[in-house]
Amino acid sequence: MFEIKNVSMIYDMDSDEKMYALSNVDLELPERGLVGIIGPSGSGKSTLMYCLSTLKKPTEGSILYKGEELTALTPAKREMLRRQKFGFIFQKHYLVPYMTAFDNCVVSALPGDPEAAERAKSMMSRLGLREKEFKKRPAKLSGGQCQRVAIARAMINGPEVVFADEPTASLDHENAFNVMRVLREYAEEHLVLVVTHDRSILQDADRIIEIWDGRISAIKDAER
Ligand SMILES: Nc1ncnc2c1ncn2[C@@H]1O[C@H](COP(=O)(O)OP(=O)(O)O)[C@@H](O)[C@H]1O
Ligand SMILES: [Mg+2]
Repeated sequence: MFEIKNVSMIYDMDSDEKMYALSNVDLELPERGLVGIIGPSGSGKSTLMYCLSTLKKPTEGSILYKGEELTALTPAKREMLRRQKFGFIFQKHYLVPYMTAFDNCVVSALPGDPEAAERAKSMMSRLGLREKEFKKRPAKLSGGQCQRVAIARAMINGPEVVFADEPTASLDHENAFNVMRVLREYAEEHLVLVVTHDRSILQDADRIIEIWDGRISAIKDAER
């Protein structure tokens, strides 16, 4: 589904010494499954994810998504792709503080989607949030609850790909486990990419990509 060819990303192009956040990465990703990207801090995990999701444009190389060259898309087309096909989860939940949990979730729905409200409710319920929490603002919810709202929001349009950058890093063990359970379930029919430096959350991953100093150092497929 993704074909990444010879992708490099250099930050700080002006300085004498070039900083390669990614160097000559080749990679193919399947249409569905839970894929972990693991590596130490600063190894280029987020950069790789942001290049794949069109939030960043690599300095060099080609990224095909379903045969379409992402690096050649106009900004408007990139935004459309992100809105319609991709879902994003970050370490911080980035909920809007003055909106209820429910509104935070529905606000990301595509315009004119008549089923968005129902889907938001069922998604939040599946994530273990109760009706009384739907009406609360983020300040009245726990960190784990906020992150679950953010996950429901990321999935409101049924994205083909979910990009999760350290989604469990600010959660306790139990909440982290619940979040991974939901992502695991979604990955049965979609592609879920999870960036982390914590191997323990990837025990059910279909594939683990190890990254070191901007290079892929290993790819391991699970026997499932
Ligand atoms: N916007 C930026 N400008 C300059 N350097 C950056 C920027 N973002 C990341 N980097 C550098 O690129 C490298 C990879 O960063 P990143 O992809 O965030 O790694 P990770 O997510 O694995 O911690 C690091 O050395 C980081 O300092
Ligand atoms: Mg990162």
